Amino acid sequence: MLEIGAGTGLNLAHYPGELEELLLTEPVDPMARRLESRLRRSGVPGRVLRAGAEALPVATDSIDTVVATMVLCTVPDPEAALAEIRRVLRPDGRLLFCEHVRSDKHGLSRWQERLAGPWEAFADGCRCTQDTLGMIERALHIERLEHEEWRGMPSLVRPLIVGAARVHRP
Ligand SMILES: C[S@@+](CC[C@H](N)C(=O)[O-])C[C@H]1O[C@@H](n2cnc3c(N)ncnc32)[C@H](O)[C@@H]1O
Repeated sequence: MLEIGAGTGLNLAHYPGELEELLLTEPVDPMARRLESRLRRSGVPGRVLRAGAEALPVATDSIDTVVATMVLCTVPDPEAALAEIRRVLRPDGRLLFCEHVRSDKHGLSRWQERLAGPWEAFADGCRCTQDTLGMIERALHIERLEHEEWRGMPSLVRPLIVGAARVHRP
């Protein structure tokens, strides 16, 4: 199992203890250091790889599950990242995702467009207008999809997609 852009490791509490090995990628060094210390404390068997999702230092067809949460909005080249995810996944592998996306409601998407620049500057490169679902659909086959709301967050980043996508058509 591999998580891209794992940040400080907020997802670690949700991984099962019986994993063989969890690979956590994180390109930003201060985050990677906090991730390493949280990984040590968690008892989950794993390693931190300092790498961007656009060039994963992982063999082709070697990973059963890739996890991406709130990260494709920030990766500078999300389509390259999805091509890499597809490359490293085994033929029966899947991507599990939870990402905030561009709204399909006209009123909110107009606000997202208007505030995209200031939001990106405020939120470390995060793009609130991105059609991440379209990108995932072009790279992989959607197996499960739910539209949710990220409660307690500014409306700009509230529309969420949560689901799974496979290398081959389910
Ligand atoms: C909003 S944080 C989300 C962190 C984590 N995924 C979570 O859900 O808590 C976005 C993360 O994307 C990482 N990131 C930035 N550029 C990246 C890249 N090229 N490849 C992978 N991750 C990247 C950032 O360092 C940061 O950890």
